[in-house]
Amino acid sequence: MREKRSWKQRRRLSDPIEEHVAFNDTETKIALNGHPIHAMMVAFPITLAFSTFGADLFYWWTADAFWPRVALWAAGFAFLMGVLAGISGTIELLMVPGIRIRSASWTHFILAVMLLSVLGLNWGFRLANAEDAVLPYGILISALAAAMTGITGWHGGKLVFDYHIGTQSRPE
Ligand code: HEM
Repeated sequence: MREKRSWKQRRRLSDPIEEHVAFNDTETKIALNGHPIHAMMVAFPITLAFSTFGADLFYWWTADAFWPRVALWAAGFAFLMGVLAGISGTIELLMVPGIRIRSASWTHFILAVMLLSVLGLNWGFRLANAEDAVLPYGILISALAAAMTGITGWHGGKLVFDYHIGTQSRPE
């Protein structure tokens, strides 16, 4: 509900998002004991995306057939865990008014969906023959996925630390 304001107050420049009480609600709803499930889950796709790139670099360096198998599994679980993390984030985005109204949340959503498509490509590309897939295209897709993971993760952190999205408004 909007507060009634005098004509003098209305003349001042104002941010409608800041003023609307419902839009100040940015507290997580998809959580375990107050801890956002999305924030807990994103550690998996982040780690696995970088591990895939690492395994590809080791294969390039050593030519050991062990590394393409590592990369195949890491790429697969990066994608699957990324999709699960994305589902928890999307439910949060749609359910919480203060998250839904902020454009930064939708920027993060678009970055994340682009990232998930690259993580899926990185896995699918290796399924037929994991070893042949690494050089040159597999490692290039891995490098792209690692860079996009960095950007998406950095932006997710911005949501939490700059916009206080997912945090408690009144800590108990
Ligand atoms: C696909 C849709 C996604 C949506 C809608 C989404 C939404 C959100 C939201 C609302 C937050 C604020 C914290 C919370 O309320 O849970 C957040 C934080 C974050 N997101 Fe996402 N996210 C998505 C996917 C991803 C993916 C794939 C990654 C992996 C790189 C990611 C990385 C992060 C990180 C690192 C944070 C900060 C966590 C923290 O520092 O506590 N997100 N995201």
